[in-house]
Amino acid sequence: MKNILVTGGAGFIGSHTCLLLLERGYDVYVVDSFINSSPKSLEKVLEINKSKKNHFQNKLKVFQGDLLDKNFLNNVFLNLTKINQKIDGVIHFAGLKSVSESVSEPLKYWETNVNGTINLLLMMEKFNCNKLVFSSSATVYAQSDNALLSEKSSIKPINPYGSTKLTIEYILRDIFNSSNERPNFASLRYFNPIGAHSSGLIGEDPKGKPNNIFPLILNTAQGIQKELKIYGNDWPTKDGTPIRDYIHVMDLANVHIKVLENLFYTSSRYINLNIGTGIGTTVLDLVKTFEKVTNVKVPYIFTDRRSGDGCYIVADNSFLVKEFNICPQISIEDMCRDGWKWKSLNPNGF
Ligand SMILES: NC(=O)c1ccc[n+]([C@@H]2O[C@H](COP(=O)([O-])OP(=O)(O)OC[C@H]3O[C@@H](n4cnc5c(N)ncnc54)[C@H](O)[C@@H]3O)[C@@H](O)[C@H]2O)c1
Repeated sequence: MKNILVTGGAGFIGSHTCLLLLERGYDVYVVDSFINSSPKSLEKVLEINKSKKNHFQNKLKVFQGDLLDKNFLNNVFLNLTKINQKIDGVIHFAGLKSVSESVSEPLKYWETNVNGTINLLLMMEKFNCNKLVFSSSATVYAQSDNALLSEKSSIKPINPYGSTKLTIEYILRDIFNSSNERPNFASLRYFNPIGAHSSGLIGEDPKGKPNNIFPLILNTAQGIQKELKIYGNDWPTKDGTPIRDYIHVMDLANVHIKVLENLFYTSSRYINLNIGTGIGTTVLDLVKTFEKVTNVKVPYIFTDRRSGDGCYIVADNSFLVKEFNICPQISIEDMCRDGWKWKSLNPNGF
């Protein structure tokens, strides 16, 4: 079976993807500094995997270190090569993801996200690994009024976080165009991943104050914060709140594996791929659905619009559906149910 290196594998999306990789029989090597995660997430991944009947006796090995540390990264690849465990493909999640922090600390974002990726690409080149799935983001797109965003929509990130993601996409394209032995790279532009594994054993555990809507809903439901701030109720939508495209993290994990497998078996290319359901949900609908399926109240207030927010950010996912035959299907109800199960069972995170 193939060996997959997962950077940032202890994080929210990474841990769910590691679980699915193990379930599908891959050997998994995680590189993570734990700057925004806990090693316990991977212990839980192993626990869930072991609890499955007929689980594969495959490996999950963790290398703690920073992508900015070239020696460390070199040693990871070298030591695996020495024991005949060449890395066949990489899923690259490691990076910083807070939009607001990227505005206040842009250098930290450019350094971690872009330099970290360059170090990884240098090692991949050195050790002849040319299959990569990269975590990009819908933040690379320009604001649109009410049209679905396709991979051909205008590109114009409006914050440093989005700019780092776009820069990495450009780097990947440049490498693809320059190389004779053309690599196979995919940049996945995620929309809004939420939810958790249905066991409630792993989920999103942001360090510090969360930025995204779903962890804030969970915190409000739990009473950690008094009320949820909804930015603006004067958007041109049915209830005045903005529309987003939420995707269950397990659907997202599945996409990574399907895309990686496609890279293994197709001829070389570089693709950008939208990863969303194509279904728009208003923030208020998300809150109401959460309240309905969990029976827990989420007090909220409306505040002014936040600068940089758009009205309608929904994926045209037809490329994903047609080309890869994948259609994310887990419902908003299940996203809310699973997310709440994780939070209720682990009120303090890992
Ligand atoms: N969650 C979202 O809403 C979302 C949306 C679009 C894109 N993304 C991207 O997907 C990726 C994963 O997101 P997530 O939600 O799982 O985030 P996360 O913060 O939970 O996971 C990122 C992981 O990377 C690790 N990490 C960070 N910098 C590192 C470094 N220099 N060296 C080694 N490890 C490092 C962290 O410790 C963490 O375990 C990120 O690149 C993020 O930008 C996330």
